[in-house]
Amino acid sequence: MSTITLGIIGTGMVGAGVARRAVDAGLGVILSNSRGPRTLAGLVAELGPRARAGTAAEAAREADLVLASLPLAALDRLPRAELAGKTVIDPMNYAPKPGWRLPELDSDELTSSELVQRRLAGARVVKALHNIGPRQVLDLFRPAGAPDRTALPLSGDDPAAKKEVEDLLDLLGFDAVDLGSLAGSWRSGPNTPLYAFPYVGQPPAGLTVHELVAWVQSAPGVPVSAARVKELAAATVRGPAGFEM
Ligand SMILES: NC(=O)c1ccc[n+]([C@@H]2O[C@H](COP(=O)([O-])OP(=O)(O)OC[C@H]3O[C@@H](n4cnc5c(N)ncnc54)[C@H](OP(=O)(O)O)[C@@H]3O)[C@@H](O)[C@H]2O)c1
Repeated sequence: MSTITLGIIGTGMVGAGVARRAVDAGLGVILSNSRGPRTLAGLVAELGPRARAGTAAEAAREADLVLASLPLAALDRLPRAELAGKTVIDPMNYAPKPGWRLPELDSDELTSSELVQRRLAGARVVKALHNIGPRQVLDLFRPAGAPDRTALPLSGDDPAAKKEVEDLLDLLGFDAVDLGSLAGSWRSGPNTPLYAFPYVGQPPAGLTVHELVAWVQSAPGVPVSAARVKELAAATVRGPAGFEM
């Protein structure tokens, strides 16, 4: 089997964390960010020969599939032409800020991933890796069939693209639970029971929002079974679309 190459657009916390896991799992990665390939030389050296850096357009064009791990606010900066025909993993969460909101998400007219799919017409968008932090990805990977293997939800409108992402998650050490369409992807989004907390457990009481985010970022992973993911998704009621900081 030839090596799969994952293009990573946005090599911050999530992109770098997934890159580490991917390289350790034997995949190739092409890393990109907003400042250019030279700024990624240190990370490339750390990750070794399976990693290289490029522009976002190169990562999109040259990879087998692409992780768009940049802020949702930078959505329009993605290389749309190069992503046409590609499977694009969307881990982006809507985090409104003073002066920046997306009314079509606030009104629940669209989920954030439907918006991503609209902007990337021609790509096949799959929502995944959005409800777990990079620290937990690096803690929780397990071989297929391990009793404590963790499951992650995915959503998408293209069955073949979903299968591709399911296979990628399997290579990375995770089971996948298909939650259906992009329209239904809110079921694992911010402000739902499937978002972040199952993978870290109960936070200490009394934290501010910023303290809570920092706690989640550094908390050891807690395994979550596929049955638990299904149970939490089934019990979900739609709340606010965004995660307010
Ligand atoms: N952090 C988490 O725990 C977590 C968990 C799940 C999902 N998410 C979601 O994952 C996404 C990334 O989060 P993060 O925490 O990794 O963010 P981050 O650490 O701030 O990194 C964002 C990355 O995106 C890059 N970027 C920004 N604009 C770009 C552009 N136009 N072209 C290419 N790259 C661009 C940045 O480039 P520079 O380095 O050059 O600035 C940076 O590498 C967000 O949408 C977030 O909602 C985060």
